[in-house]
Amino acid sequence: EVIATDELAQAATELFARLITTTGARQGACTLALSGGHTPWSVFGSLARRDLPWEACTIYQVDERAAPDGDPDRNLTHLEAAFGDVAARVVAMDAADPDLPAAAARYAAGLPAAFDVVHLGLGPDGHTASLVPGDGVLEVTDVLVAPTTRPYQGHRRLTLTYPALARARQLVWLVTGATKQAALAALLAGDTSIPAGRVHANGPSVVLADPAATSGTPPT
Ligand code: 6PG
Repeated sequence: EVIATDELAQAATELFARLITTTGARQGACTLALSGGHTPWSVFGSLARRDLPWEACTIYQVDERAAPDGDPDRNLTHLEAAFGDVAARVVAMDAADPDLPAAAARYAAGLPAAFDVVHLGLGPDGHTASLVPGDGVLEVTDVLVAPTTRPYQGHRRLTLTYPALARARQLVWLVTGATKQAALAALLAGDTSIPAGRVHANGPSVVLADPAATSGTPPT
């Protein structure tokens, strides 16, 4: 779906709110897995202000940067700032632990059998989560959470692996900006040469993108 840039955050908020409400009503609980990056911050802020069954929701992290607690590079820092009181529902990756494989294993042990909603962003290089080009983490299929083998944009990362993302009952991609045009075109073409192209979920996927990311396609 192509949505005008200044309406995309609202549209994404409405979509997440609808998914939380319907899954909460249907099964009395809701599991979300949310990515970091800049795009979603405004979405999470407005979502937190909605009257939703948050006490029935558990929010997991899709990925995290290996940095101290409170570091501005940590996705958790921004999740907590955006979600406010709702942040109590966030199950945080222990990315301050110098033993990243141990932190990954602990986080994997606490994951649900399925995520009702998984939010993914898209990098200009085609990364998603912290499944970054050329990193050995792309080939990890025997665990649900793994560290990257090398730093990416200044930090090693913890990330859900492809098998963990496959547990999504619904995938929601948020993609904005002209820098994402090539990566988004590759994603939509099912190009497995980019990490995002290799994500397969059990449930349906929707992409919310602004015109800049879709090479000027007019909003729907
Ligand atoms: C991270 C994110 C990452 C992000 C993309 C898109 O930790 O950096 O999880 O995968 O989703 O880089 O980020 P923007 O939406 O801010 O462009």
